[in-house]
Amino acid sequence: MTNSETQRVSLRPYEPADAAATLSIFTDAITQTAAAFYSADQVDAWAKPGRRSPGTWHVAMAGRASVVAVIGSEVVGFSDIDGNGYIDMLFVAPRYVRRGVARTLLGFLEQRAQEAGTSELTSNVSVAARPFFESIGFEVVREQRPVVDGIEMTNYRMTKAVSPTNATVR
Ligand SMILES: CC(C)(COP(=O)(O)OP(=O)(O)OC[C@H]1O[C@@H](n2cnc3c(N)ncnc32)[C@H](O)[C@@H]1OP(=O)(O)O)[C@@H](O)C(=O)NCCC(=O)NCCS
Repeated sequence: MTNSETQRVSLRPYEPADAAATLSIFTDAITQTAAAFYSADQVDAWAKPGRRSPGTWHVAMAGRASVVAVIGSEVVGFSDIDGNGYIDMLFVAPRYVRRGVARTLLGFLEQRAQEAGTSELTSNVSVAARPFFESIGFEVVREQRPVVDGIEMTNYRMTKAVSPTNATVR
């Protein structure tokens, strides 16, 4: 392992300079990690590799008050949460999966939700990410079939109750 690989995960707010790195993570996480669970057409409709404007991407990331995970000096993942406890994005660079990056991000976001008095976390979770969300206490409410660019996908509406005694243990 290199030194950077043994360093801990730290979190900070998304900054404009993170646009390119987070867009790359999003694309790579879908086309490499999630691709094992979706067809080529589904992966293409979801990731739109090479067809997303960095400027548009930045505006969306900033609008969600996104949080990035950093190992060493490298951005390795990102997520977000809104005032209702809804988590829109959760993506980790393929090279850094299974090191607790997503668990660190969601632990922080859950704590933020608790402090805000939010009662429930919700997300529309990919087939690829369902085991992760289950590992931190989310449950499936229903299976969903959203249509993206004419291509039907599968995901799960998942929720987790938030209470002072129910925080994600890290
Ligand atoms: C889902 C995702 C964000 C998880 O990120 P991660 O940083 O690898 O997750 P963590 O290392 O924090 O995993 C914590 C626990 O979740 C569970 N988990 C995570 N990934 C898993 C997998 N592929 N299979 C089974 N369990 C898994 C495990 O219990 C894991 O603990 P362990 O590694 O000690 O066994 C990442 O795999 C990803 O980016 N996937 C592709 C994009 C995607 O589908 N994003 C979600 C959109 S809703």
